[in-house]
Amino acid sequence: MRVLLLGSGGREHAIGWKLAQSPRLERLVSCPGNPGLDDLGDIAPDVDPIDPEAVLQLSIERDIDLVVIGPEAPLAAGVADRLREARVAVFGPNADGTRLESSKSFAKEVMAAAHIPTARSVTFSDREAAVLHLEETEGPYVVKADGLASGKGVLVTESLEAAIAWVEECLTGRFGRAGESVLIEEFLNGDEISVFYICADGEAIPLEPARDYKRLGDGDTGPNTGGMGAYSPVPDLPDDLVEWTTLNVTLPILAELHSREIDYTGFLYVGLMLTDDGPKVLEFNCRLGDPETQVLMPRLESDLLTVLNAAATVGITGQNLTWSDRAAVDVVLASPGYPDDPTTGLGIIGLERVSDAIVFHAGTQHTDAGLMTAGGRVLNVVGVADTLEQARADAYAAVDVIEFTGMRFRTDIADRDAVSRKERGAT
Ligand code: AMP
Ligand code: GLY
Repeated sequence: MRVLLLGSGGREHAIGWKLAQSPRLERLVSCPGNPGLDDLGDIAPDVDPIDPEAVLQLSIERDIDLVVIGPEAPLAAGVADRLREARVAVFGPNADGTRLESSKSFAKEVMAAAHIPTARSVTFSDREAAVLHLEETEGPYVVKADGLASGKGVLVTESLEAAIAWVEECLTGRFGRAGESVLIEEFLNGDEISVFYICADGEAIPLEPARDYKRLGDGDTGPNTGGMGAYSPVPDLPDDLVEWTTLNVTLPILAELHSREIDYTGFLYVGLMLTDDGPKVLEFNCRLGDPETQVLMPRLESDLLTVLNAAATVGITGQNLTWSDRAAVDVVLASPGYPDDPTTGLGIIGLERVSDAIVFHAGTQHTDAGLMTAGGRVLNVVGVADTLEQARADAYAAVDVIEFTGMRFRTDIADRDAVSRKERGAT
């Protein structure tokens, strides 16, 4: 099969790496791709992946059998809609289903209709009303830009002043149109976990859960980022967590969407907080997690291409996924200044000296002067081993030989003490 993969991040490199292992793959084309994906097939760096017509043209020119959409932006822009209309097989929801991610207020409305446990929230587009609401509630405060903000539109703070300032920043354009309205949400306490699905025709196949690290600094300090690392499997989760999530979140959401005439085919990411009152949904995304995908793909034994193609064409009844017992740990190497103002164009050295780890590219670029940084999150260094401890040791050993100016990373990804402290419910 000839597959077109949209996206250019570490998640897409990991998906492409897995697709490339399929005996059914004839050619992988990535748009716009990155240097890692370039090594796995062709790239189409000059085609805009969020332009539906341009993606359709590329699919036709390259005689593509299946389009797999990695990030949310092409989905929100209606790329899947256009491909379906033209009868090109595509894995990824239409723009209407993508609203689960692109509008947090829509997600809340659908969750309320489907009786799905989530934090209480109120949506505001008026500053005065939002501030009054904050003043009447107790901290910690959770303030979210309603629309897409690359994981950076959420502030969780003890400070009323900071919460008010965030409302103002959102409403005055810090996140563009994504911040035209804000949600003020009940604070949920607990451990977070990401559960993923491949969905089609109201059915859902779960992937393994993974845990990511959203804060920039060690010990979960600093601003929220797109994600600074991840690991899987996650020890000591409730045994029935995935089954609970399938029955209480995923299938009801798909049914609720269906009742609104939204047919959802694609990945679904359920972000959960494991609270004392049981799991509650923090967010939905219409894609896999980044960096969670980078630890899931190395553990997946089944042929991903077969399942995604089935979802996009005949449905997933009878399909399943099998997983290895091995552990994977991903350490993200980020640019100086990330997440607010990453410096790019810095030379990267040492990749050829990496052994015993997989390196997935994210913000990198080939230039005449060699490999350079080209984004906030630059590389994902993934150790895969029989135990979480060994996978972590392998990942950090590889991190040690990679260098670029101002490279920053967390040193506590999958740290055993930190992991078990979390599992015991300490904060
Ligand atoms: P979101 O993009 O909505 O998942 O929010 C980003 C991050 O902010 C989450 O991964 C949590 O760490 C944190 N967060 C979001 N909502 C809440 C909440 N209601 N209570 C506590 N933390 C939250
Ligand atoms: N790892 C968080 C996300 O992909 O949104």
